[in-house]
Amino acid sequence: MKYKKYYDLIKEQAEIFDKTQNCKIGQTWDYHLLPVIKNALMLADKYGADKDIVEVSAIFHDYADLLDFANRENHHILGAELAEGVLMQDGFSQDFIDKVKRCILNHRASVVREKFSIEEICVADADAMSHLDSVVELICWRAYLGEDIQTCNDFVKTKIKKSYAKMSPQIKEMMRDKYESIMSILL
Ligand SMILES: [Fe+2]
Ligand SMILES: [Fe+2]
Repeated sequence: MKYKKYYDLIKEQAEIFDKTQNCKIGQTWDYHLLPVIKNALMLADKYGADKDIVEVSAIFHDYADLLDFANRENHHILGAELAEGVLMQDGFSQDFIDKVKRCILNHRASVVREKFSIEEICVADADAMSHLDSVVELICWRAYLGEDIQTCNDFVKTKIKKSYAKMSPQIKEMMRDKYESIMSILL
């Protein structure tokens, strides 16, 4: 595996994150990070995007969150900087690093920015798809943090709405039935 070192780094950090944030070690990796990477690579194939940029960006896209959830609001900005540090040390070109940084900066649903490259769209769509695919994981996460049913419901509903809103038109079409089904059962 070409980027095994980065997979190991993020998986390990996700397990540390799970110890304080989730009911089960491996939850964040299995139900968010790995699905985002897989979705992103599937989309890269579909759209003819640069798979290296997409894969590395997807691996690192929530790195800042995993290090400290207090970074949540700026995790796209901080994550881009953290990825840059790692990639510079490993000798990647500045052009490659800049493209990865843009994917990480633009992956968030709550900070909708104009997306300029197909690689950025792959990572943002993959992230949004994962939220719809793993809605049970989102509910378990919030419940574990002690939220009451209504607060948990409202968090998940907002997250799903934002995720759907940021999807590109093709992916929106693909995910529409699932989106409507999820929304129909949330309060
Ligand atoms: Fe994120
Ligand atoms: Fe994410």
